[in-house]
Amino acid sequence: MSLISLDRWRGKVAIITGASAGIGAAIAEQLVQEGLQVVGLARRVERVEELAKKLKGKKGKLHAVKADISKEEDILNAFKWTSDNVGPVHILVNNAGVAQKTNLTTEGDTEKWRQIFETNVMGLCIATREAVKIMQAKKIDGHIIHINSIVGHRILTLPGRNVYPASKFAVTALTETLRHELRHLGLKIKITSLSPGRVATEFGQNVVTDPKILEEMKKLPRLTSESVANAVLYVLSTPPDVQIPELMIQPMGEEF
Ligand SMILES: NC(=O)c1ccc[n+]([C@@H]2O[C@H](COP(=O)([O-])OP(=O)(O)OC[C@H]3O[C@@H](n4cnc5c(N)ncnc54)[C@H](OP(=O)(O)O)[C@@H]3O)[C@@H](O)[C@H]2O)c1
Repeated sequence: MSLISLDRWRGKVAIITGASAGIGAAIAEQLVQEGLQVVGLARRVERVEELAKKLKGKKGKLHAVKADISKEEDILNAFKWTSDNVGPVHILVNNAGVAQKTNLTTEGDTEKWRQIFETNVMGLCIATREAVKIMQAKKIDGHIIHINSIVGHRILTLPGRNVYPASKFAVTALTETLRHELRHLGLKIKITSLSPGRVATEFGQNVVTDPKILEEMKKLPRLTSESVANAVLYVLSTPPDVQIPELMIQPMGEEF
């Protein structure tokens, strides 16, 4: 008999940060199809609302909440709205992430560096803390998934990266530190870092703006957002006694 099943999550609440595009939207779509109540956070909330309309009539439901994950107040408000209107969070997917066109040297832009860390690291930490507080208070054996990156594990010789890999290395460290903290607290909340290689999304289009290079990049092996969402469903479907702290997923033939 297969132990893999999403049954225990059906009807439960999942919060996904950055649900307006790419990987986050694909995860939202698949979790709604599996019957979850999904709260999708993004600045471009109208995109999440559009997706919610498209998903009407599916087993679960998508709720759109406007939030800038680099602002603590927005995160706190989004968690409160979710508890008050949908229910206590069982799954948190920290997916919102950003890269910026700058470098570490001559052009280094402090504000751009700051935005990367505020979004990819601080936003993730604040959302995680809020989720754990609710899960602990309500005795929920929940699951927190960080959408990390292959560059959170090794530095690739790609241009225009600046502090982005450092922000993802921080996510790798935060995953392990959280796993130990949860264990010391005696909580059965799972933590998973999911680290994709290149994915075909709008990500990085603010970094690589040359249309020729963008066309060349499209020819490289890339995962679909749906494949990354499938990996999220897989880690969620593991039985309560199985922990997947890290899952790396790359397109076949990726050059690094
Ligand atoms: N694409 C890749 O090749 C790749 C590879 C490995 C890892 N990743 C990681 O995967 C995650 C998702 O990226 P993606 O490829 O799906 O990129 P994407 O298509 O650009 O989507 C990024 C999402 O993050 C949200 N976001 C960014 N800043 C935000 C903020 N301050 N507040 C709230 N939401 C914010 C965006 O929403 P709004 O703009 O509407 O707020 C959007 O929904 C990121 O963490 C990225 O680092 C991507």
